[in-house]
Amino acid sequence: MSSTKPESVINVKTPSATGRETLSITDNRTGRQYEVPIKNETIRALDLRPMKVNTEDFGLMGYDPAFTNTASCSSKITFIDGDKGILRYRGYSIEELAEKSTYIETAYLILYGELPNKSELADWSYNVTHHTFIHESIKKFLDGFHYDAHPMGMLISTVAALSTFYPDAKDIFNPESRRKQTYRLIGKMPTLAAFAYRHSLGMPFAYPDNDLSYCGNFLNMLFRTTELKYRPNPTLERALDILFILHADHEQNCSSTAMRCVGSSHVDPYCATAAATAALYGPLHGGANEAVLRMLVEIGSVNNVPAYIKRVKSGEKLLMGFGHRVYKNYDPRARIVKHIAYEVFDVMGKNPLIEIALECERIALEDDYFVSRRLYPNVDFYTGLIYQSMGFPMTMFPVLFAIPRTSGWIAQWEEMLLDPEQKISRPRQVYLGHELRDYTPLDRRD
Ligand code: SDX
Repeated sequence: MSSTKPESVINVKTPSATGRETLSITDNRTGRQYEVPIKNETIRALDLRPMKVNTEDFGLMGYDPAFTNTASCSSKITFIDGDKGILRYRGYSIEELAEKSTYIETAYLILYGELPNKSELADWSYNVTHHTFIHESIKKFLDGFHYDAHPMGMLISTVAALSTFYPDAKDIFNPESRRKQTYRLIGKMPTLAAFAYRHSLGMPFAYPDNDLSYCGNFLNMLFRTTELKYRPNPTLERALDILFILHADHEQNCSSTAMRCVGSSHVDPYCATAAATAALYGPLHGGANEAVLRMLVEIGSVNNVPAYIKRVKSGEKLLMGFGHRVYKNYDPRARIVKHIAYEVFDVMGKNPLIEIALECERIALEDDYFVSRRLYPNVDFYTGLIYQSMGFPMTMFPVLFAIPRTSGWIAQWEEMLLDPEQKISRPRQVYLGHELRDYTPLDRRD
């Protein structure tokens, strides 16, 4: 049900008509009545526990596979209104940040809650820039991978390996240590990604150039060849910077949930980030941008789109890059990505697959199968077309998602650690297995 509240009060919960912020629940098994408080339009699942038939009962729980209607935390980082297609980082709209900010500034905003002033930004940029080098031993890990190893597998492995070089990262309740690991993680993710890419090409590693911007240096480590000084194309550099802003955080998505859950055991942030990167790799999540390109290549031509859509509607295929757990409207990021695509095409030449993508979108936005399920293009639908035009192989697409999302993962991790309501994540279950039974000796099993 879409919210009817004016946008200006969208974050303020509408006061109840009766003034009573409670649920009155009657347990019809016993006739007992309960008053359950409502706060922020939620009830605490633990308030269900007293609802029992017998005193030795465990009590009621909420049952919510895949957490489709469960808030696992409270957060001040990112706000999404899925019905309205609204996305804000710390209250700033994604549209305004994409137009006026940079990724490194947006990462600061997401992590520390406010836009930095000049000295804060200079200090932040300096520290991230001066943590781009990785230990030379990491290169030995990369050399151990086959040439055709998927770069996400290499990234997950080398991020986790960083934990072995920085044992001080275990001091997770020391704010200075967290800040140092934050510099290292945000600074080194592009280096690990670029080195993985160069390994797959059999090319020597191109080291960081501290004179360049965050994205300019990333392009340098990816694409520098014999030139002494790499000069990034400004249009591509800015396009990547905006794409990184769009991917920086997205509240409690699968990989952020992995970051929070794994981090709740108080493991170091490198291992938690490796877990989050692994979650992102899946084709239903950040791996979708790669899956979209493979889908468009499989479709092959605009004429083949209706037949593919038919396979989707029969349930045989998913239309990758479409649909979202939260957005039941056009993903605001997809709108911006689509615009960037044409700017990149102006420099690199038009990606012919865009016509197939546009036809998929045209049909899907008209067809009741998609309209009735409120399936719209998400952030992954057009990004792959841009990455391919910029010269990236499809396997690098999820890596290009993981790099910017690192700032969101760290922000979510830190918010979880400092939240007095949080502790180790350990959900309950509904047990439907066997009751107690006796061991059957092998010779008596049929
Ligand atoms: C990201 O959570 C985030 O915020 C993620 C993300 C972020 O920034 O972190 O936004 C990034 O992961 C974007 C999503 C990228 N994934 C894809 O594009 C893969 C294709 N999309 C689907 O797999 C799906 O839409 C999900 C996973 C994104 C969302 O799945 P839900 O919310 O669990 O929805 P669902 O699977 O229950 O689908 C509801 C119905 C089903 O049909 P019925 O059973 O009702 O008949 O819609 C259908 C689904 O079959 N459906 C699709 C579809 N997505 C959902 N049918 C065809 N093609 C699709 N893409």
